Amino acid sequence: MRAVLLRETGGPEALRLEEVEQPELGDGEVLVHVQAASVNPSDWKYRRGLLPKSLPAVLGSDVSGTVEASRSDAFAEGEEVLGIARSGSYAELAVAAERMLVGKPAGLTHAQAAAIPVTGLTSWQALHDRGGLQAGQTALIAGAAGGVGHVAVQLAKLAGARTIGTGSTRNRDFVLGLGADEYVDYTRQDVAEALNDVDVALDTVGGETTRSLLATVRSGGVLVTIASGPPEDAAERGVRAELVIMSPSSEQLAEIARLAATGQLRIEIAETLPLAEFQQALALSESGHARGKIILDVAR
Ligand SMILES: NC(=O)c1ccc[n+]([C@@H]2O[C@H](COP(=O)([O-])OP(=O)(O)OC[C@H]3O[C@@H](n4cnc5c(N)ncnc54)[C@H](OP(=O)(O)O)[C@@H]3O)[C@@H](O)[C@H]2O)c1
Repeated sequence: MRAVLLRETGGPEALRLEEVEQPELGDGEVLVHVQAASVNPSDWKYRRGLLPKSLPAVLGSDVSGTVEASRSDAFAEGEEVLGIARSGSYAELAVAAERMLVGKPAGLTHAQAAAIPVTGLTSWQALHDRGGLQAGQTALIAGAAGGVGHVAVQLAKLAGARTIGTGSTRNRDFVLGLGADEYVDYTRQDVAEALNDVDVALDTVGGETTRSLLATVRSGGVLVTIASGPPEDAAERGVRAELVIMSPSSEQLAEIARLAATGQLRIEIAETLPLAEFQQALALSESGHARGKIILDVAR
């Protein structure tokens, strides 16, 4: 099968589209004929050696496709599924454990479905499991136009929160169009000065942004980070700050897919490219300014 293989860490040249052996199927696992994969920043972070991974490895986590073979009672051959692949999803075939998959709702395209797993689960767990977001509270989503951010804005609204998003000038209308009540353009305003009394802040940007968001959260509030560790002085300021590492949950994934399929959650696709154009897809993600998700169409 064709797959994008990372043999050693490095620049873009470290990745090649190669002919490789198909992954082996274990008990409780499903072999997926991949239709679409989505790009996550972790993919180029693995390539650059910023996150650990045993190599060689096929890149990619998010997958949508058709069950080609099954050693699971939960999924039969021919079923359409979405989820997180164990063996790498930038490939024609990928293996996933049954607990990492859910059935793909008919109302979703494979591209939409592949966009959901990592961003959906991360947003859900950040806002609900860690943030404890309640109706009537104020949620702040930093990086509101990104893969995680655009889903988080909508989940926060669905939870009944007053929702504020941050991003650059060009994304204002997009984020407000997702339902955000307020938008802070970080290129024109200092977010820390513009906002205060936030109950739950989700930082998808990391670095300096994480530090500056601390000032926006009320005492007793929560700052959830996903791109870098929580600021050390959070407790001194009376803020509970926590780093979330997404974990698989088929219940949560099924609910997020249902929201998307019923039109309650809009999945924004920045660009869809054929698998062979994976370098372009990764470069767009690496720019840090994609709007929504980048999809690899593996069937093309
Ligand atoms: N811990 C976990 O389990 C987990 C899970 C998923 C992702 N992550 C990490 O979370 C981060 C976000 O992931 P993602 O998929 O959402 O990335 P992404 O889609 O690449 O995010 C891009 C977005 O970030 C926005 N942005 C860039 N700088 C900003 C700033 N200073 N303020 C506000 N917005 C800014 C951009 O908007 P503008 O163009 O308007 O600037 C763009 O829309 C990545 O570092 C990723 O590795 C962690």
